[in-house]
Amino acid sequence: MTRSDNPYRDDRGNKDRSITKAGGGTIDNPEGGGSALPAPGGPFLAAEGMTGGYGAADILHDCTLTVEKGQIAVIVGPNGAGKSTAMKAVFGMLRLRGGHVRLDGEDITHLSPQDRVAKGMGFVPQTNNVFPSMSVEENLEMGAFLRRDDFRATMEQVFDLFPILKDKRRQPAGELSGGQRQQVAVGRALMTQPKLLMLDEPTAGVSPIVMDELFDRIIEVARTGISILMVEQNARQALEIADKGYVLVQGANRYTDTGAALLADPDVRRTFLGG
Ligand SMILES: Nc1ncnc2c1ncn2[C@@H]1O[C@H](COP(=O)(O)OP(=O)(O)OP(=O)(O)O)[C@@H](O)[C@H]1O
Ligand SMILES: [Mg+2]
Repeated sequence: MTRSDNPYRDDRGNKDRSITKAGGGTIDNPEGGGSALPAPGGPFLAAEGMTGGYGAADILHDCTLTVEKGQIAVIVGPNGAGKSTAMKAVFGMLRLRGGHVRLDGEDITHLSPQDRVAKGMGFVPQTNNVFPSMSVEENLEMGAFLRRDDFRATMEQVFDLFPILKDKRRQPAGELSGGQRQQVAVGRALMTQPKLLMLDEPTAGVSPIVMDELFDRIIEVARTGISILMVEQNARQALEIADKGYVLVQGANRYTDTGAALLADPDVRRTFLGG
């Protein structure tokens, strides 16, 4: 699916925010432009044929996830399906027995998570994704730990995207609401200026209104050209904003299609979307 035929590109998200304005403080992305065209050398992220697990038994079985530049890919599936495990594998937290991970055409299968961050990956894990006793601002500074340059402009961009974080920047992150904490976690990941942002259940435990808000912000981030790979429990709503959707079952790809096609598929609806 291209940007132009996805209705959510046009009617969702607040286009007035500076992150999306030309020259108005976008999350700095060297590739720029937000083009949804496939990269000449294949998808921006190509994690293909991933097989592996935590010990002797494999959790992932020939699992493939790809994301085009500036697009949103969503992984859904039952609890225990291996969604978080797949994210960890893409981020280098799992030793794979098979398969490879390529980012922007470069094979990064054997890089550490830290080296993947340097290559342009940002990861927001499902749990423990903020430092609760540290202030919001300190959390964002921690996100910039790999950077040697001046990151203040990036922090301002994060505050533009999530204005509440600016108001609460001196407050310990642990005192924030669930939705606000998730904003801190996403903001922290953005501090490294990722080209691929990976989010494991960013809307876990938040109200439907806060979920919609967060999805709008995620769409805005994608518009700046950053690719998004996201696991979501709110499958229906997430697939609505997804360029591509993956249904994962028992560590394997069960269905892969555009978000719209999965939402329209009777089997997917009945089995995974509650009818
Ligand atoms: N650190 C770990 N060590 C051993 N096994 C693990 C570990 N983490 C997860 N598993 C196992 O791997 C399988 C997949 O777990 P995973 O967390 O990836 O599922 P998930 O799809 O993210 O589930 P949920 O929707 O509940 O977040 C489960 O059987 C789980 O018990
Ligand atoms: Mg999980």
